[in-house]
Amino acid sequence: MDVKFLQFLCLTLCEFLLSNAFTPQDNYLINCGSSASTVVSDNRHFLGDASKNGSMYLSGGKSVALKNPNPSPNSTVLYGTARVFTSASSYEFVVKNLGIHLVRMHFSPFISQNYDLKNGNFSVLANGISLLNNFGAEVTVLKEFFLVVNKENLEILVKPSGDSDFAYVNAIEFFSAPKDFFIDAGELALISSNGIQEFKQNISSYVLETVHRINVGGSKITPFNDTLWRNWIPDEDYLSLKSAAKIVATNDQPNYQPGGASRENAPDSVYMTAQEMNIANGSLNFLFNITWEFPVQAEDDMFIVRLHFCDIVSIGLNSLYFNIYINGITAYKDVDLSVLAFHELAAPYYIDFAVENAQKSNVMRISVGPSDLSNTLRKNAILNGVEIMRMVDFVALPKTSNKKHVWNFVGPIVGGFFFVLLLASVAIFVCLKCKRGRVKPKPRRSESVGWTSVRGSSYAISEGTALTSPGPYGYYGLRIPFSDIQVATNDFDNNLVIGSGGFGTVYKGILKDNIKVAVKRGVPGSRQGLPEFQTEITVLSKIRHCHLVSLVGYCEEQSEMILVYEYIEKGPLRHHLYGSKFPHLSWKQRLEICIGAARGLHYLHTGSAQGIIHRDIKSTNILLDENYVAKVADFGLSRSGPCLDETHVSTGVKGSFGYLDPEYFRRQQLTDKSDVYSFGVVLFEVLCARPAVDPLLNRDQVNLAEWAMEWQKKGLIEQIVDQRIMDQIKPSSLKKFGETAEKCLADYGVDRPTMGDVLWNLEHAYQLQTNEPQTAMDGDLSDDPGPPRLVRGDPTSSEGVDQGDGSSDISTTRVFSQLLTNEGR
Ligand SMILES: *[C@@H]1O[C@H](CO)[C@@H](O)[C@H](O)[C@H]1NC(C)=O
Ligand SMILES: *[C@@H]1O[C@H](CO)[C@@H](O)[C@H](O)[C@H]1NC(C)=O
Ligand SMILES: *[C@@H]1O[C@H](CO)[C@@H](O)[C@H](O)[C@H]1NC(C)=O
Ligand SMILES: *[C@@H]1O[C@H](CO)[C@@H](O)[C@H](O)[C@H]1NC(C)=O
Ligand SMILES: *[C@@H]1O[C@H](CO)[C@@H](O)[C@H](O)[C@H]1NC(C)=O
Ligand SMILES: *[C@@H]1O[C@H](CO)[C@@H](O)[C@H](O)[C@H]1NC(C)=O
Ligand SMILES: *[C@@H]1O[C@H](CO)[C@@H](O)[C@H](O)[C@H]1NC(C)=O
Repeated sequence: MDVKFLQFLCLTLCEFLLSNAFTPQDNYLINCGSSASTVVSDNRHFLGDASKNGSMYLSGGKSVALKNPNPSPNSTVLYGTARVFTSASSYEFVVKNLGIHLVRMHFSPFISQNYDLKNGNFSVLANGISLLNNFGAEVTVLKEFFLVVNKENLEILVKPSGDSDFAYVNAIEFFSAPKDFFIDAGELALISSNGIQEFKQNISSYVLETVHRINVGGSKITPFNDTLWRNWIPDEDYLSLKSAAKIVATNDQPNYQPGGASRENAPDSVYMTAQEMNIANGSLNFLFNITWEFPVQAEDDMFIVRLHFCDIVSIGLNSLYFNIYINGITAYKDVDLSVLAFHELAAPYYIDFAVENAQKSNVMRISVGPSDLSNTLRKNAILNGVEIMRMVDFVALPKTSNKKHVWNFVGPIVGGFFFVLLLASVAIFVCLKCKRGRVKPKPRRSESVGWTSVRGSSYAISEGTALTSPGPYGYYGLRIPFSDIQVATNDFDNNLVIGSGGFGTVYKGILKDNIKVAVKRGVPGSRQGLPEFQTEITVLSKIRHCHLVSLVGYCEEQSEMILVYEYIEKGPLRHHLYGSKFPHLSWKQRLEICIGAARGLHYLHTGSAQGIIHRDIKSTNILLDENYVAKVADFGLSRSGPCLDETHVSTGVKGSFGYLDPEYFRRQQLTDKSDVYSFGVVLFEVLCARPAVDPLLNRDQVNLAEWAMEWQKKGLIEQIVDQRIMDQIKPSSLKKFGETAEKCLADYGVDRPTMGDVLWNLEHAYQLQTNEPQTAMDGDLSDDPGPPRLVRGDPTSSEGVDQGDGSSDISTTRVFSQLLTNEGR
């Protein structure tokens, strides 16, 4: 190899390494009380706040710069000076990059002039949020906070408190956290003394303070060797039984995977060491956990715990299964790092938990132990790193909002009375919304919505009437007597089965008043799926939208779990795309269907019921009514977090093969962007008229998402478009559509558009095709202006779906149609 080439190689490599190092967009490093700019041991420049350039960050109040007359030769030069504030004063920084930032404050007390810094007691606020209260330090203390800055400057206010007449600080770091450092608006498992609940992560509503940062099985890591200039401490002192654990280490660099943990989450050395179970040679005693006990403040209510993993112990995939316990509660059962970390060994990965400290304990116990799934001769459990952060000022979180109710509700089995109570309150809520809706009437057409019809039927129940009087839409009507359902389905006649799946069987039925419904019956007597059942009622009863399938009622009698939906005439979109004898849909129809489904999902994500993630978007869950208007179905999975019940812990992931967001799959952190991913797969499915997964095809074609993305990226998407409609599609419309689908399938949730953006782009594609805007029909509750003007009445009715009853008025036919669920799950 010649020298030039080597040089070239070195340069490229250096560039590569440099471009990989994290450089925060906002980066302020202040050496308080110093008049010089200082380079510290991790090579960062700290600007003295007594220098010309540094003083501009200081504003207001009275302060003096102090110098330590006897600086310790061992400690950083930053601790040789301090700024002492004798009245409230602040540092102000311009913020270029809104979002999560780190604030680190260094306190290292010394004695100088009239000040013994040990006597300083003070408060620190960041943009008005209290970080430290009546704080004082006897020894050197480093405080680290994560906070969201959502305006263009950050003010760090320092003021003396209590009897103290001064405050001080030795150094301040304020810089942008890496993008995606915390997944916002996702759902975490909340570990509390009552078990596991859902926790909606909203980083903007609280500040996190780092309490522990541990390199399990490894040595101390200093800022010099950490991508975010952090300190990591060895775990040994926290092990409750040292002999239970054994250190493992590797010399191989971690095998970072996109979507897994990155170098910014923890440096290589955290992932290159771990503790594993210390099982003596030949011993079959696996019945123990490795437990760490971390001191915490009893008065802290809530923590975020981030556990880092990297399977450096297995010799093959799928051989390590273990359980994670937090404070004695099973936080994650049967962890399978092979699956989580992308089917790679030694691939870094982390899992976040929210942990409630209701018992005011001053210790947090984290254990890992063997799972029943693992081979009896090879049981093991590992942990590579731990970060514990407390939520500062946790009161900010709406802890006792309706969220809690939902989870109380979904968790334990509840009696019918509470159930009715809840439905009644939901009813009142919805009625209020309806009334509000009426103040500003929207243009309405003759079509009305299901509710009216339901109310018209005779299902108002006497039971529970004591609670409150029925609203104008007759929500007591939700409860349907079992005997009526038996009649409607001809006593669950097998000939009326239109679908089946995880939850049970779906029948077509006709209620009194000739109302056609889809009846979804859980396995009688079994409690399996009860949480889903209750979730679905809670969720569905809150939601009314013209692009979402409506719940007509439910039945909970005689240990039955039955949900009754409107019957959607033409059934699943999938059947109209391929594999059936239905006439094929035109490009314009397909666009309209995609737009309709996107509207429904957009409403789920952002509408009045807000923040609902569907979790199982696929072409069999998008139904078409008789006018080919899309309606999104099956919210049975909505909301349930990944760790909720035993049956789902082992798989960890809900959703359907071929549609599953790879990021969710790896991280188990669910966001509305997971729905966007699945919807992207549906878009390609609509375009190419083939299944999301087709095992009969060549290997490179099996997975639609991968295959279509390849063609899309090559700019050759037209090559794989459904040949039957190719000649109708305008290139500009196709281009827009392809780009939209591509964006939905981005590897990382943050790079994907919101459902609102998707909707906008699809409407644009529609406009490019037709030169006319797609009529907006963003229905709010029952104010449903009806379907877009589609090519009406392709009279081809399907076998088994046809109802031929002449039940006349459009409102009933439109509303009560078929629902097929769970197919292909
Ligand atoms: C102070 O700021 C000026 C202009 O921004 C810059 O040229 C100079 O290098 C800075 N001095 C120090 C000590 O950072
Ligand atoms: C500084 O470090 C040296 C050795 O590393 C140690 O002997 C000495 O006690 C330390 N001094 C202080 C003040 O901590
Ligand atoms: C100052 O802070 C320390 C430590 O937080 C505390 O123990 C002490 O009581 C405080 N003193 C005053 C005067 O507030
Ligand atoms: C998150 O919290 C902020 C501030 O409390 C609030 O404005 C915002 O609406 C919340 N977002 C969600 C999705 O709950
Ligand atoms: C950084 O890491 C290297 C390799 O692990 C180690 O030799 C070195 O001492 C570390 N440096 C510091 C400052 O921690
Ligand atoms: C355990 O067994 C392995 C191979 O079976 C052997 O290499 C190792 O020395 C043994 N260790 C002890 C402590 O006996
Ligand atoms: C591990 O700890 C959990 C929680 O304390 C406990 O339920 C479980 O039985 C322990 N497992 C073993 C094998 O000791």
